[in-house]
Amino acid sequence: MTSAFVAAFAALLLWRVLEGPKKKPPPAAPMALAPPEPLPLEPPVQVLRVANSGLPCDVDDVLASKCRRCHTQPPRHSAPVQLLSLDDLHADRNGAPVYQHVGRVVESGYMPFAIMANPPIERLTDAEKQTLLAWVSAGAPRGACGADAGPDAGQKPARRR
Ligand code: HEC
Repeated sequence: MTSAFVAAFAALLLWRVLEGPKKKPPPAAPMALAPPEPLPLEPPVQVLRVANSGLPCDVDDVLASKCRRCHTQPPRHSAPVQLLSLDDLHADRNGAPVYQHVGRVVESGYMPFAIMANPPIERLTDAEKQTLLAWVSAGAPRGACGADAGPDAGQKPARRR
């Protein structure tokens, strides 16, 4: 009786060893790209542009398409400043004009803020980054776009896609 039991036990052990470790579940999908639950779709931003922003058209375009998703009025996702007009960009923030902060956070890639959102937050293209950085290093000069752009304001809007 005992030996039958021992034999059965040994057989069971052998079977477990031969079977090998339990198969691992497939690795989880990368979290940053695939949120577990679909996020609620955000309603469109109300204020993407203001008339007579004082901003050059190409700068206004980049801010509208990549930044005002959050840096608008009212702000979204806890964005601390609005980036709608030349005045906004020359306002003081911690002892420096906002546009210099823009240069810093765009250079470093900190902005656009990479949170999970629906629709997803889009990064800047290299061309868009250049547009912002060139303008910032020129001292963020006044430009014209939209309602204040005369017939030959001359700057072609940087269309994306
Ligand atoms: C998804 C929302 C979102 C988007 C899109 C976004 N921002 Fe921000 N931005 C934030 C938040 C939130 C903060 C505050 C971050 C913090 O306190 O660390 C911030 C902070 C900033 C600051 C202040 C940084 C400082 O240290 O004072 C600047 C300047 C800025 N953003 C510029 C931009 C620009 C330029 C773009 C577009 C290229 C952009 N942001 C896109 C949400 C956003």
